Amino acid sequence: MSTRSASAEDFPQFPPGFFFGAATASYQIEGAWDEDGRGVSIWDTYCRTPGKVADGATGDVACDHYHRYPEDVALLRDLGADSYRFSVAWPRIVPEGTGAVNTKGLDFYDRLVDELLAAGVEPAPTLYHWDLPQPLEDRGGWRVRETAEAFADYAAVVAERIGDRVGRWMTLNEPFCAAFVGYAVGRHAPGAREGEGALAAVHHLLVGHGLTVQALRAAGAREVGVALNPDRLVAATDSPEDLAALVRAETMHNDCWFDPLFAGRYPLHEQETWGEITDFGFRREGDLEIIGQPIDFCGVNFYRPITIRATPYRDEDPAVRTAADIRAEETWQEGPRRTTMGWPVVPSSFRDLLVDLAARYPALPPLVITENGSAEADVPDEDGVVHDADRVEYLRGHLQALSQAVAEGVDVRGYYVWSLLDNFEWAFGYDRRFGIVRVDYDTLARTPKDSYRWYQRFLAEHRSRRS
Ligand code: FCB
Repeated sequence: MSTRSASAEDFPQFPPGFFFGAATASYQIEGAWDEDGRGVSIWDTYCRTPGKVADGATGDVACDHYHRYPEDVALLRDLGADSYRFSVAWPRIVPEGTGAVNTKGLDFYDRLVDELLAAGVEPAPTLYHWDLPQPLEDRGGWRVRETAEAFADYAAVVAERIGDRVGRWMTLNEPFCAAFVGYAVGRHAPGAREGEGALAAVHHLLVGHGLTVQALRAAGAREVGVALNPDRLVAATDSPEDLAALVRAETMHNDCWFDPLFAGRYPLHEQETWGEITDFGFRREGDLEIIGQPIDFCGVNFYRPITIRATPYRDEDPAVRTAADIRAEETWQEGPRRTTMGWPVVPSSFRDLLVDLAARYPALPPLVITENGSAEADVPDEDGVVHDADRVEYLRGHLQALSQAVAEGVDVRGYYVWSLLDNFEWAFGYDRRFGIVRVDYDTLARTPKDSYRWYQRFLAEHRSRRS
């Protein structure tokens, strides 16, 4: 029998005001895809396109969070979470993307927010976690400016309804994925394989962010940020080819987001990155001001480092080939353990990324870690409990690296683990599990894993040092 007390565990240390929570996203957990007037999203369509998502999975039911949210909020409360990062499904609120508002959709988030507050958990919504209303995609999606404007209008509607009880807002989640994975290589909805066509999406996502910051401010929002996924990129060798590929990859993964948002410019190396693409006609005068207006925090989603090697891309489709030249080839570092996503576990790269970002962008607002976690080969015991020692090790290692970055002076205010629940992992369907709570997809029963219990003890210890 173990007599170790919680405080005897080797927990990473954080300043007393540092907050902790867990994150999810609407399409990945809600289900209820056609209930209460919800419109169709690009992910509904993508999932129904044969061959796109593993096992033909969809988010139709997912974790059924739409009906089971009281149970999920109770899990957050028992965890000791300060905050819950969830996303609002745009097609529930404005089913056609513009125009008529669906009150029943707003009612759901209203109930969720009240349930969270009653449980002592701060609601922290993200307004766009990839579920674009299909009618907007039919009119051009993020390729066109109308979508950016529609995004701000929808945000205003949400803020008007729940803004009185919400302290922390996020506009976009990982616009890198929405633009490049969605429109260049087509591995995410809407599945467009248009190579450089994604550059218009990059721009309109950024403009949509800026217009939405304005809309939220006008509605009296207190704290507004965005959740990006800056990558820690490392050249495979110092050959001129690999170093040139690194510059292109930095432009695409990091600079084309951070430069307009926090340095008032389009990325420095864009000409050498996008090659002969010179038609940036979708950019308007004044856009950099809209995009770069001050925000209160920058969210960072971090999972793993990426090694960049210059390699000819193998896709036969010329449009996609162009995108991939932009992309360079990502290979994984040899050596470290990998999660079931194939991602190498290198906690020190988390510290390196944060220290580097703070040095590169003097105007960077405070950071919040908006996602971090790992997919593991979870096997439940006979009681349905998963003893996920690998996930615990992943979390401990990354929290330790984060604590080190904070000790070195990087201004980070909070951390959300991805994810509260096992859920729909996009093109991987239900095959990859990131939750600290197991979801049995036959019964939809939730069972906390060992990682949940570890995080719970860590939070209790952190809290005990606050008083
Ligand atoms: C991020 C997404 C999130 C989740 C994790 C594993 O790219 O923002 O929805 O799928 O990866």
